Amino acid sequence: MNTRRTGTRRMSRPQTACIRFGLVCLAFVIYLWICGHWHHRSTKWEILVDGLAESLGHPNFLNIRVYERDLPQHSLPKFLYGGTERPRYVFFANAVNGLGWNNVLQEQLLNAHLAHLSQRAYVFPDFAPSDHPPFPDKLVNGSRHLLHIPMNALLSGPTAGGGLSSDGKDDLSRRAVSEKWWDVACPRSEVVVLNVQQTMREMSLDAASDGKEILTKWVQKLASISDPCVSVEDGSVFDYELFNSDRLLSIWPSYSQSPILENFAWSPLITAAIFRNFHLFSADPPPDFLTPHEGNRPHGFTNFLPLPVSEQPIFGLLAIHVRRGDYEAQCKLLANSSADFCGWNALGTLDYPLHPSKYALGPQIPTQLDISDAEWREGGTLHHCWPSPESIVARLHTVRRDAILMRGQKLQKLYIATNGDSVWLRNLVQMLVADGWDNVSSSFDMELELEERAVAQAVDMAVLTAAEVFIGNGFSSMTSNVVQTRLAGGRDRRTINFW
Ligand SMILES: *[C@@H]1O[C@H](CO)[C@@H](O)[C@H](O)[C@H]1NC(C)=O
Ligand SMILES: *[C@@H]1O[C@H](CO)[C@@H](O)[C@H](O)[C@H]1NC(C)=O
Ligand SMILES: *[C@@H]1O[C@H](CO)[C@@H](O)[C@H](O)[C@H]1NC(C)=O
Repeated sequence: MNTRRTGTRRMSRPQTACIRFGLVCLAFVIYLWICGHWHHRSTKWEILVDGLAESLGHPNFLNIRVYERDLPQHSLPKFLYGGTERPRYVFFANAVNGLGWNNVLQEQLLNAHLAHLSQRAYVFPDFAPSDHPPFPDKLVNGSRHLLHIPMNALLSGPTAGGGLSSDGKDDLSRRAVSEKWWDVACPRSEVVVLNVQQTMREMSLDAASDGKEILTKWVQKLASISDPCVSVEDGSVFDYELFNSDRLLSIWPSYSQSPILENFAWSPLITAAIFRNFHLFSADPPPDFLTPHEGNRPHGFTNFLPLPVSEQPIFGLLAIHVRRGDYEAQCKLLANSSADFCGWNALGTLDYPLHPSKYALGPQIPTQLDISDAEWREGGTLHHCWPSPESIVARLHTVRRDAILMRGQKLQKLYIATNGDSVWLRNLVQMLVADGWDNVSSSFDMELELEERAVAQAVDMAVLTAAEVFIGNGFSSMTSNVVQTRLAGGRDRRTINFW
């Protein structure tokens, strides 16, 4: 049967060839236009050494900066090689950098979660908090030159551009990019700017809004914008006040399931520091995940792997966070204002009768701020925030006893993460040894190389996260970030304790 359709005028062969040639030419011209348009955006930036930083003795993290620049997502947009969409980004231009380390970190992690839910790649900046710098940063003319730490010296995992799933099968265009790449991919003329205060007002959000409502409305806002480049400016979406209030906690159910937390990992630099000092934490040889792998350099700059929080704990280790120094004044201030535990330390707090729904929100860490109304509130707060050496020894005694009685955990080694005075610490250690702790070490015993010293606080946090059992300060954001990484790693909530 003849299936050729009638009524269709067929073109002659030369005509078809001509049209095909035309189409090929047109495609080629479009291709050249796209390449030309993007050419200036694909060139790799030069990594400059900061002379002022060097004069102050700051490490330059050259290898880590090269690693960050060469992340695979820092490349031409996907549509050029088969994909369909230009990646969409969100940059939080004014997230706090003025406050302490862990105020900065907690906000950045939550911003990364917001970016993820909004189906946008998170733009990670350098880490440059201003409080408690580990190196001098005053120039001769008196102005400060803050230490700049590339995010990958501190973290691996999704917040620092790592994979959003552990099998590596995530979408490259959704991975976090560095601020440097943002500058390349999003020229200012193409950036949609959202002013935080104005956007909050438009969405009927204010200083009393619940965390979940803030998150949900911002996700809707960011997802609804079709432009690829969005910059959130002049404020913080998740501000300091939110982190110090129980309004934060309604975010936990969503946040705790996020790849940002589930795939959270400390940097290979931190793995190296823990490996070198492992004798302080355990009598056993270091486990495989802490050990360098010759010839296997997925991170280019080191043989060490990132340290995911989901790895097994360091068995037999009790690690404690003893915040001293300026905390004496801070604790008095907190006591006078009847402050509650901050950040994620307040998960499951039992003393909020106004919000019974909160019981369902968190994992209910058992040892909470247990000051009854009858007790003197100020003294009670000070007791938890600024514990005396005697009460520290007593607390450790109880925790050690409960660990063995209730969970069969035999705690042998003790690590003290502290910024305390060395004479005060020596006295504390003597008292602990007298109470039966054989092996006590502290932040002062850590042997760290220059780059590791820049992130010494995060090295301590990684040890506090890895320890089988942990005791922290409920008023501290450093403890709060250890709490969230421990929970993210699946540690039993009963291994988390407060003074
Ligand atoms: C101090 O010197 C630095 C570097 O030369 C410069 O950037 C800064 O503006 C100076 N500060 C003042 C207060 O002059
Ligand atoms: C520390 O631990 C080791 C074995 O882990 C033990 O041999 C030693 O006696 C302990 N005490 C001190 C003070 O080093
Ligand atoms: C405690 O707070 C009150 C006001 O709430 C203030 O007048 C007082 O000076 C504060 N005391 C200290 C020691 O900060």
